[in-house]
Amino acid sequence: MSARICLAVATLGLLSRSTFAAPSSSTGHDILPPPPNPEPIKIIELPLPPVAPTREEGACTLDINPRRTGCIAVDPSLQGGTFLPDGNHVIATVNFTGAPAPPDPASVYMGMQMIAVRTNGTTFPNGDTWKCITCGVPDENKEGSEELTEYPQAFKDGRRAMAASNIVDCGDAELTSPECTPDKVHIHPIWWESGSIRELRIHPDNVHLGFSSFTQQNGALGQYAYFGRIVFNPAPKVGEHLSPRYEVVNVTRLFNPDAPQPVEVEGKRLVLNPNAIAVGELHLTTGKVRRLTQHPEYVDPLDISPDDQWAVILDTRGTDRQMWLSGMRGIPPVTDLITTSLTSATRNNGQRRFFVPWLIDYHGDRGSYFGQQINAAGDGTPGSINDPNWNARADPRWSPDGTQITYYQYLVVPPACGGQNPLPCPTSTAPGGRINRLMLATLTSRTPLAPQPIANVPEFIPWGVPVKPGDPLPIRPAPAPGVYTLKGKRSGSARVEIIGDGTTIDTVAVRYDRFSDDGINILRGWENVTVTRLSLSTSRAEWYSDLWSTGETRSSKRTGRGGFHLEIDSLVNIFKANGTMVTTIDGVVYKPPANGT
Ligand SMILES: *[C@@H]1O[C@H](CO)[C@@H](O)[C@H](O)[C@H]1NC(C)=O
Ligand SMILES: *[C@@H]1O[C@H](CO)[C@@H](O)[C@H](O)[C@H]1NC(C)=O
Ligand SMILES: *[C@@H]1O[C@H](CO)[C@@H](O)[C@H](O)[C@H]1NC(C)=O
Ligand SMILES: *[C@@H]1O[C@H](CO)[C@@H](O)[C@H](O)[C@H]1NC(C)=O
Ligand SMILES: *[C@@H]1O[C@H](CO)[C@@H](O)[C@H](O)[C@H]1NC(C)=O
Repeated sequence: MSARICLAVATLGLLSRSTFAAPSSSTGHDILPPPPNPEPIKIIELPLPPVAPTREEGACTLDINPRRTGCIAVDPSLQGGTFLPDGNHVIATVNFTGAPAPPDPASVYMGMQMIAVRTNGTTFPNGDTWKCITCGVPDENKEGSEELTEYPQAFKDGRRAMAASNIVDCGDAELTSPECTPDKVHIHPIWWESGSIRELRIHPDNVHLGFSSFTQQNGALGQYAYFGRIVFNPAPKVGEHLSPRYEVVNVTRLFNPDAPQPVEVEGKRLVLNPNAIAVGELHLTTGKVRRLTQHPEYVDPLDISPDDQWAVILDTRGTDRQMWLSGMRGIPPVTDLITTSLTSATRNNGQRRFFVPWLIDYHGDRGSYFGQQINAAGDGTPGSINDPNWNARADPRWSPDGTQITYYQYLVVPPACGGQNPLPCPTSTAPGGRINRLMLATLTSRTPLAPQPIANVPEFIPWGVPVKPGDPLPIRPAPAPGVYTLKGKRSGSARVEIIGDGTTIDTVAVRYDRFSDDGINILRGWENVTVTRLSLSTSRAEWYSDLWSTGETRSSKRTGRGGFHLEIDSLVNIFKANGTMVTTIDGVVYKPPANGT
């Protein structure tokens, strides 16, 4: 897990321009500029609709909302989204509750809806700081659509926005304008002939999109990333719902089984390809890969600034959540062949995320620079901006002028706190006891950027594989069982034994002999891991390590007598383990969390 080259869960980041993802010079001798100084950041919580104390009908009383524009639940399933193109609003989806029964006009403020929230302290004409865009949309305007949940994203026309696999469309009216009334709004499904689509991302050109589609292969959950074009079809002829919809056409799968894979075999040698494409940060057109982060903790959601000079990432860095597992550097990602779904699942404890927002410049982690924690200011008290019980969720987002970042957080709730859990459950200090909050960070010393150019993107991504309906899914190639040698780039080698039935690998056993990729850190010892799949999403690892290294640091990673046994359902992510695994870096000792914490 030390060199995180093949996390299938990585976010599909679509870059507006190309420079951020350009490869650094191939000489490897770049003189990188010194890291930036920390900059001033001001953070506020954005207003959300008022909270109804219960989910009972009518719980959203006139006292709570005198304007009768709805209430959200204490647990509103908030998903923060992008800014609208005017930079004065952030869109989000939230669960409304407690509305009166029809025919009361306020009865429409129920369920998952898309809202726009003012970010500049002003209000809509009715006095609210937010506007519900989709409350009251007639049924005939949303046939075939699904619940408005994940990843709300605005189009640049200000008149459309995407959430889950729907496009919310207000015709000629901007979503935030008084002209955009519920009868004008349509919620159109996005339809792909080849399967269900998730984790959609609009390309900055607003006609293409990236998305994931989940798979079940070899008894395990997997996913592939895709790129395609969206085309409106007012009168579909095939499929389940024949209502007007957006269709995904001209699709490229962003995985080519014939291209170099992260781990490959050449005769008796094992070869690692850091440039193999496992969709994460990449140059969409050329497929060139540049590694942006180096910290051993887990990074996942991210957004690149409009000028491609900065990234905001959500990372467990700084929390020590996974240092016991990944803190030792210079270990090649060989056991990762079988452990990534388990190791990446240690990042959360159920609904408790350990994600913190960080700001990192174009050149990424280097030396002692690991970016600037965006919400570092604050006194750590309950409800403060750096209260560790408030955890960020996917995705953070830049404003169009590059001076603001929005992110959102959930407060830890049972069973990740309270009861058997040593972490006492905090009492929410947010309005109405709300357990979700939407945040706005302003980078106060920055000058607003002019609108940025948008790179052209080819219709079909040249390094991917064009797909047609009915095409079979590829299998991710894996090294065949056998004993291989992995040579250190600078010195030493490793003996790698791969055991499996030819379809799935069960065991990877590695012995390092003065192994070094960088000529500085020298790795010795052995590590072997056996992974057993218990269900589509649950697996269990029997892990034995006795690794130590010298060089920049004196480090070790050792399991106790009897090894370390980890079992996680990657859809639930409750930490459950037996035995011990301890990583020590220059005398600092890191141990795994207790079960269920
Ligand atoms: C929204 O709230 C309702 C109850 O008011 C609940 O049944 C539903 O599951 C919630 N939806 C989400 C996505 O949280
Ligand atoms: C705040 O945003 C609204 C909506 O875009 C805009 O009309 C108004 O001028 C903005 N006010 C300030 C002070 O920026
Ligand atoms: C799909 O791609 C082909 C080939 O590039 C192009 O001719 C066609 O116009 C594209 N379809 C749409 C709907 O743009
Ligand atoms: C892995 O290590 C354990 C403990 O030393 C040992 O019992 C087992 O045989 C090893 N497995 C392989 C495949 O080397
Ligand atoms: C812990 O040990 C017990 C008893 O040996 C075993 O039944 C259980 O499955 C183990 N749990 C994990 C996570 O390995």
